[in-house]
Amino acid sequence: MNPLPKGAAVDARSRVRRALAIAGSLRSGSYNRLLLANARTMTPAYLEIRSYDDLASIPLFDEDLEQRTSGGPDAVKALRVLVAEADGLLISTPEYNQSMSGVLKNVVDWLSRAGPEEVLIGKPIAIMGASGGRWGTRLAQANLRQVLTATESLVMPQPAIFVAEAAKVFDERGQLSHDLTRKQLEKFMLAFSRWLELMETPRLLKAQ
Ligand SMILES: Cc1cc2nc3c(=O)[nH]c(=O)nc-3n(C[C@H](O)[C@H](O)[C@H](O)COP(=O)(O)O)c2cc1C
Repeated sequence: MNPLPKGAAVDARSRVRRALAIAGSLRSGSYNRLLLANARTMTPAYLEIRSYDDLASIPLFDEDLEQRTSGGPDAVKALRVLVAEADGLLISTPEYNQSMSGVLKNVVDWLSRAGPEEVLIGKPIAIMGASGGRWGTRLAQANLRQVLTATESLVMPQPAIFVAEAAKVFDERGQLSHDLTRKQLEKFMLAFSRWLELMETPRLLKAQ
């Protein structure tokens, strides 16, 4: 974890915020997972990121299954709890056929459903993505943004990070070795931590 970024004032009212990171890929060598792993090392001291690594256990969304299991099987229920407890979500999406991955859309569909708590409503989210192509998930992120609008989550508008030609920006140990991308990611993570603080107010208002 980095010390406080240069020039950042320590706000005594600040508390440590906790975000859940979800990579929208099941691939063992996923660039999106690597991107999130690098992002975790760049957080300011007042932001902690926990990785969600159980995406493969989430079944395909099925309203019959949802009803039979009163809101979803155990893996879905466990994820709902993690999302409800998190101050925000950090999602990294691959791009498949100019869209987000199917597994990611599937998770959003499960989480968007009314359970004991509608976990995505008012949830601050930042999205990023890495792909092998030259546009670095521009279309996938636009697509994810549009879908998240329907969930009433609060998606950080800027800055954006589109990691193109992902094979070239990580070294053999999975470290982000491309300077410009590292700087973009540092800036992104600082903005995300501020977004979590800023978006707390509307959520608190809503709870009243
Ligand atoms: C079915 C499929 C479709 C893809 N379509 C795109 C695409 O439209 N644009 C793009 O930039 N990359 C595309 N790719 C390449 C993926 O972005 C690349 O495999 C990426 O590494 C996947 O993310 P991951 O490394 O996190 O698994 C596609 C890959 C697959 C398997």
